[in-house]
Order: sequence, then structure tokens, then C-alpha cells
Amino acid sequence: MTKNKLHVAVIFGGRSGEHEVSLMSARSVLSVLDPAKYEVTQIGITHDGAWLTGEDVLGAFESGRLEGLKSFVMTPDPSGVTRQPVDVFFPVLHGTFGEDGTMQGFFELADVAYVGAGVAGSSVGMDKGIFKDVMIANQIPVVDTMVVSRAEIEKDIVAVIEKAEKISGYPLFTKPANLGSSVGVTKCNSRSDLQEGLMEAASFDRRVLVQKGIMNAREIEVSVLGNNDPQASIPGEILPSREFYSYESKYIDGTSGLVIPAPLPQETAEQIRDYAVRAYKAIDCAGMARVDFFVEKETNRIYLNELNTIPGFTKISMYPKLWEASGLPYSKLVDRLIELALERKADRDRTLHTFRSRT
Ligand SMILES: Nc1ncnc2c1ncn2[C@@H]1O[C@H](COP(=O)(O)OP(=O)(O)O)[C@@H](O)[C@H]1O
Ligand SMILES: [Mg+2]
Repeated sequence: MTKNKLHVAVIFGGRSGEHEVSLMSARSVLSVLDPAKYEVTQIGITHDGAWLTGEDVLGAFESGRLEGLKSFVMTPDPSGVTRQPVDVFFPVLHGTFGEDGTMQGFFELADVAYVGAGVAGSSVGMDKGIFKDVMIANQIPVVDTMVVSRAEIEKDIVAVIEKAEKISGYPLFTKPANLGSSVGVTKCNSRSDLQEGLMEAASFDRRVLVQKGIMNAREIEVSVLGNNDPQASIPGEILPSREFYSYESKYIDGTSGLVIPAPLPQETAEQIRDYAVRAYKAIDCAGMARVDFFVEKETNRIYLNELNTIPGFTKISMYPKLWEASGLPYSKLVDRLIELALERKADRDRTLHTFRSRT
């Protein structure tokens, strides 16, 4: 039998707090995978970490009725659940155990092609503390930040507060080092806020960031796409519905606006795109990333805030919207990401894993 369709396994759900966001992104991705080109397998990961497959897995996850789904077993598949080996895995997973390098390590061990960044790019992109240090080493401007451990907070929170207050006056922001969707992020206007914020963030991670609050920060985002020669889209701007771009503002209000292109002086927009590509290369990113900036209103001063290796991916999310505005529609973007996954695998396959004498 000649095989003419590419077998793509879309993975969604997952063990992170962004499980539901992932289902929304997966709904959009699945809707555009052309059945003439792809054979699609759906794999849902439950909150508890079980991998399930079958018919309409996404529908089952959305309704919470998982009976009838079977366990997914990585190839070779003794159960015969997968009809042919998977050519490309497409993790549409946000946050912990999906976007942070752990899933990517699993793909590497299984020696399969997958969409997006590799192990190092994913984990450095996820860890806001280490990411900032890599940016500083590459002369990319970031917000003044201190990283503290949960152990330090538990041992002597007053000492941590005193040290944090040296970064800058209030407001300060506290956030877990490894999370997304603004979960555990607090804007602290006073010492008591800071104490609460530190404890809140420490409940979500072993390491916590305390950061100078950028007053009147505009939130500018750029989409980057590619492997060896990544390209940046035009920048877009987020208009949060609340005091800052909190979880509620992202997912509950439904009124945060996207402005594309972001109204910025040409020079600022170009500088932001350049930083985005440099940041992407610095952490050895691949496939895609959305790179988020703060721009101070009065001065147009730029700070790179974070890089998301699996950004929100619904049809109305910023990442695909920016590409659409740059001339690449959603379905073509999904095709391109699959191609990039295959290219990256081919490139990886060229790497020697055994010693070869040169004499
Ligand atoms: N230092 C800061 N100054 C001003 N606003 C901030 C700062 N840090 C975070 N924020 C606000 O909190 C939101 C979420 O923080 P962010 O670091 O992007 O975490 P997440 O990965 O959860 O999106 C930002 O989009 C912004 O609105
Ligand atoms: Mg963010």
C-alpha cells in the first residue's frame, strides 16, 4: 500500500492548569487539518496524565465523558489502535508537562517528529528566571527582576521582602517562575500585597520572581515562525480588560482587545521584531513562538517580557492572527508548522550519535 497521507497526532488537554485553554486551541487546529492531506489521530491527556485515543476524543474531553476511549500507546503499537505509525506529533498543550520540555524530551526519546521547540528551547522559554538571564547575556532588555526560592520565602519572608523592595518602589509583580495564563501573578501595591503575592506564587512553583512593575506598560506581542531562519510577524497590541492582563482578563471577560498592527513608531516596531528573532535564536527555539513585550507609554522604552513556545492557538488568538495579518492564513500556518517539524527531524537525524575516528 502506498502511503500518501501524512499521519498527524494532535495532543491536547494535559496535566497543567491550562488544560481547558488547550482544548480550545486544539478545536481550532483540528478544524483545519485537511483530510485530503492528513490522517489525524486525536490524543487527549487527562488532568491525571492518562493518554487516551479513539473517535472524537476532543468532544469527549469537552463533555467530560471519557468512557469508550482507549489508552494511547506510543509506537510500536501492540494494541493496533494507531492505524499507521505517526509521522508528526502536534502538541497543542500549554504550560507544565506540555510546553516546558518534558513532553519534548519524551518525543526525543521516542525519536519522532514533533511541532515546536526542542527540549532546551521549551524549558528555557518556560522558566522566566533562567530566560531573563539568557536575555541579559544577549543584550536584550528585560525588567529588573529577582528570583527567590520557596525555601527562602518560608524561612524568612521579611528578609525576602526587604531585598525585593530594593529592586524598585511599588508596584512590584510577583509570579511563579514556570507557569502561564497569568496564574499566580499578583500586582503588589504595598508590603502586605507583596507578602501575599510571594506566598501565592510560591504555592505554584518552587521558584518565584519579583519584578519591578512597569507603569503604563503597553503589551506588544510578535509571532515568530521558522527553524534555522526564523521570521517575525508585524507586532500586535493587547488592550487588557482589567488593570493588568490577568487570567480573568484573558479567558473570562472576553473583552480584551487585540489591535493589529500595534500602533507603534516604525523604528520601535522594527526594534521589537529584531529582539524577538534574537531571543528565539538565543534559546534555540524552533517551529514557533510568541514573544511578548512591554513598551512604556511615555518613552517607548522596550522590555522583553516572555517567550511562549506553544502560544494560545485558537483562530482568534494573537499568534495566528498576527500571521494572518502578515499574509499567512490559519490553515497554511498549521501546514507550515507540520513541515517545520519534519524538517527539524531530518536535520536532527543528520547528527552523529557515535564516535567516528577521523584518522
Ligand atoms: N513587571 C511587570 N510590569 C507590569 N505588568 C506586568 C509585569 N509583569 C507582569 N505584568 C502583567 O501580568 C501579565 C502576566 O504576566 P506574565 O509575566 O506575562 O505571565 P504569564 O506567563 O502568566 O502570561 C502581563 O501580561 C502583564 O499584564
Ligand atoms: Mg504573559
